[in-house]
Amino acid sequence: MLFKRSHMCGELRKENAGEQVVLNGWVQKSRNLGGLIFCDIRDKTGITQVVFDDTVPRELFDRADTLRSEYVIGVKGQVRERESKNPDMPTGDVEILAGDLVIYSTADTPPIYIKDDDNVDDNLRLKYRYLDLRKKKMQDNLLFRARLTNIARDYFAGEGFTEVETPVLIKSTPEGARDYLVPSRVNQGHFYALPQSPQTFKQLLMVGGTDRYFQIAKCFRDEDLRADRQPEFTQIDLEMSFVDVDDVIEIQEGFMKRVFRELKGIDLETPFPRMTWDEAMNRYGSDKPDIRFGFELQDITELVKDCGFRVFTDAIEAGGSVRGICIEGGAQAYTRKKIDKLTEAVKSYGARGMVWMKVTEEGVSSSVNKFFSPEELRNIADTMGAGTGDLILIVSDKNKVVYDSLGFLRRHIAGEMGLLDDEDYKFLWVVDFPLFEYDEKEDRWSAMHHPFTSPREEDAELLKTDPHKCKANAYDIVLNGVELGGGSIRIHDREMQEDMFRALNMGEEEIQEKFGFLVEAFRYGAPPHGGLAYGLDRLIMLLTGEKSIREVIAFPKNQNAQCMVSEAPGTVDDVQLEELGIALRAGSEE
Ligand code: AMO
Repeated sequence: MLFKRSHMCGELRKENAGEQVVLNGWVQKSRNLGGLIFCDIRDKTGITQVVFDDTVPRELFDRADTLRSEYVIGVKGQVRERESKNPDMPTGDVEILAGDLVIYSTADTPPIYIKDDDNVDDNLRLKYRYLDLRKKKMQDNLLFRARLTNIARDYFAGEGFTEVETPVLIKSTPEGARDYLVPSRVNQGHFYALPQSPQTFKQLLMVGGTDRYFQIAKCFRDEDLRADRQPEFTQIDLEMSFVDVDDVIEIQEGFMKRVFRELKGIDLETPFPRMTWDEAMNRYGSDKPDIRFGFELQDITELVKDCGFRVFTDAIEAGGSVRGICIEGGAQAYTRKKIDKLTEAVKSYGARGMVWMKVTEEGVSSSVNKFFSPEELRNIADTMGAGTGDLILIVSDKNKVVYDSLGFLRRHIAGEMGLLDDEDYKFLWVVDFPLFEYDEKEDRWSAMHHPFTSPREEDAELLKTDPHKCKANAYDIVLNGVELGGGSIRIHDREMQEDMFRALNMGEEEIQEKFGFLVEAFRYGAPPHGGLAYGLDRLIMLLTGEKSIREVIAFPKNQNAQCMVSEAPGTVDDVQLEELGIALRAGSEE
């Protein structure tokens, strides 16, 4: 029997008093106080208190007495104002005096509590995700996500974008992470790759005349997981024909404005500031700087290049630099023990150590007192603008190590000092990325974005002569230190594409093998085009104030890239392997 519901469990208010209503939902908790049973009934909108008292028939009272947490029930009854109100619940002014009850399902004791702030092991939450999803916060996040994708569809359709689905069983894409492979039964020994993004297909759509394409696309990258990375994630992906950087950026700012107005009630100021990649690295040590706070990097290489301290001078002689950050008011907050922890932390960024200095009433104390005179220390502190009570942290090394270490420190310390306000949204476009980056592990140059990204117009000649100095027509949209999205204006000119491949040292065979179809398509008339992709999960994470994208994905993977609910990946039987022409190496079945 189904009791057709009249209201959701979070809806009833004082004004409903006297009404006959029907609610469906789960038992949050039930308690028998002798002649009175209180039962809280819950659905995704909230909780309502139901009362069974001595006016209800005995049989109904006895049935109500069997209710346990997570039973699924329907209740009919009359709304009445409560005697003792609960100001912490939106429905706290009312309760339902039960007249009838149906138990749809009983439930075993759940392995996790259905409570928003319950501190449960993550793997347990993921294994019982369907229980975890019953929490209001999780349902709110899913709803928020759905509202955002609705806005995206509406906004981009309104701007002339056509939503097009692109294939999932494809050849490798150029994003540069490791592919997920799918063996082909029909073509044994051959593999599909799951798309790291729809990049090549959206460019083909431009060649195909779609003009403006948009998709909410599943992407797959076999890379190590982090709080803002999943092996399977979603992009809001788009591409436009006959546009330059400003056109692409303007459309995005309009989109963000609309999202923030409708979902957060915030009127964003546009245009967002733009910063070149060089400036971002120099000032913040990061290509996705968090600009909600200061602690900017300062280069003191010149100042210390002739000092006697080998740690500094060796780094400079090896082509590196000496830079620091000044933490206003940090001298007291950071004890020796806490500084030691920071020093340990920067080691994971390759730094061999970290120098600290504290400016106090008595002078400058530091970890390098024996290598510098008090005047020299004072000089460094003055140059860095440090006043009494400030803490200076300095790293000397290869530029990359210096940037990564200080970039990490400034944000980490801002977090520890409580300077990161989740509701303070600071957007930034990082532009003019290098076209290439040097891959030390593989000892070769690779495309920083992908090989279809065009150089800035003024660098087109450089691509032939000194390609690795080129800056790209690429842009990232950054919000509060998180890379929300990235894109570029693509190469549509055949000759330039060849220069690009040459600069990457890619031979004809490799080009054909990897991107032959795209290069061929460009032979038949490619419009100038460019686009961008947002990490949808990241955007929602930031807007909901979550710390991990797992909180905004219904069924995310755990740290080991496993789906704890379905227990994927799993083994397959020999017949399936046989059909695919695959033999497992001994030992790999484990
Ligand atoms: P890119 O590789 O920068 O560009 O990806 C675009 C955005 O996708 C998000 N993202 C991720 N989110 C969660 N988990 C991951 N593993 C993950 N990897 C990336 C980020 C990132 O900014 N085809 C190009 C876009 C283009 O040039 O138009 C691309 O995929 O928020």
